[in-house]
Amino acid sequence: MISIKNLSYGYPNGTIVLDSINIELRMGEFVALVGSNGCGKSTLARHLNGLLKPIKGSVEIMGMDTRNQSDIWKIRQTVGIVFQDPHIQFIGSTLEEDVAFGLENLALPGIEIRRLVSEALAITGLEKYRYSSPASLSGGQKQKAAIAGAIVMGSKFLVLDEVTSMLDPSSSKEILDILLSLKKKGVGLLYITHRVEEALLSDRMIVMDKGKIVTDDTPIAVIKKLGQDNYLFELPPLLKLALKLDEAGILQLHSHLLSPYTLAEEICQSL
Ligand SMILES: Nc1ncnc2c1ncn2[C@@H]1O[C@H](COP(=O)(O)OP(=O)(O)O)[C@@H](O)[C@H]1O
Ligand SMILES: [Mg+2]
Repeated sequence: MISIKNLSYGYPNGTIVLDSINIELRMGEFVALVGSNGCGKSTLARHLNGLLKPIKGSVEIMGMDTRNQSDIWKIRQTVGIVFQDPHIQFIGSTLEEDVAFGLENLALPGIEIRRLVSEALAITGLEKYRYSSPASLSGGQKQKAAIAGAIVMGSKFLVLDEVTSMLDPSSSKEILDILLSLKKKGVGLLYITHRVEEALLSDRMIVMDKGKIVTDDTPIAVIKKLGQDNYLFELPPLLKLALKLDEAGILQLHSHLLSPYTLAEEICQSL
C-alpha cells in the first residue's frame, strides 16, 4: 500500500504547494487525480518515489518511508513514475536496451533480463519495436515504452502524470487499456489527468485544489457532488447532459453514459 499522511510541501523560497494531503492507494486499485493547473498534482507525484521529501507528514511505500535514504532504491523499484513528456526518459540506443536499463543494477543473468523485457514489451504491445531506436517511436509508443520501463522492474504501483495529454484519442485509449490490464494483474495506479472521461474508468477520483484534497470518492459520486458548474474540471457534453437528466430524475448517472448510443437508449426507455 501507498500511505500518504498529512503531507505538506513547499518548494524552497516558495509558498506551500501541498497542504496536509492524506491518500491511501492499494495494489490493484485505479485512482484518478484531477485538479486545475498548478494545484500540486505533479509535486504530489514526485513525492511517491522520493524525488521530493515531505516538509511535514509522511509518504510510506509498502511500509518504507521515503525519507529513509537506504530504502530509496527499493522504493523506486516499487513505484514507477511516467511523466507527460517521455523524451527525457530515454537512454538506450534500442528500445530493448532502454527498457532493460533499470534492470542492469539488479545483477540478473542476461537470459532473465531478456525474458523480463519480452514480457514488458508484450504487455505494452511493443514487441515489433524491440530493436528500433526510441527516438523513432511515435508519442503514444514512447509513452508505452516508458510504461514498459517501469513495469519491467516489477513495480507494484505506477504513477502516471498526464501521460495522454499530448496523445490522440486512439493512442490514449490504448494506454488506458494497458493500464486496465495492469490493474487486473494487481498493479496500483495513480492516474493524473485533465479528462473526466478518463477518470470515469477509475475506482476512485480524487479532486485537488490549491494543494488540498477537495474530495475522494467514486467518480460518479464526485461528479454528482461537485456538479456541472464547478471550476475544478470540465464535464464533457454527454456527461453534462446525463447529469442534468439524473438531477431531473429521468435516469441514473453511470459511467457508460459517455456513449451517445447508451445515453440515447436510456433516455428513450425512460420517456
Ligand atoms: N521546481 C519548482 N520550483 C518552484 N516552484 C514550483 C516547481 N514546480 C512547481 N512549482 C510550483 O508549484 C505549484 C504546483 O505545481 P505542480 O505540482 O506542477 O502543479 P500541477 O501538476 O497540478 O499543474 C505551482 O504553483 C508551480 O508553479
Ligand atoms: Mg503537472
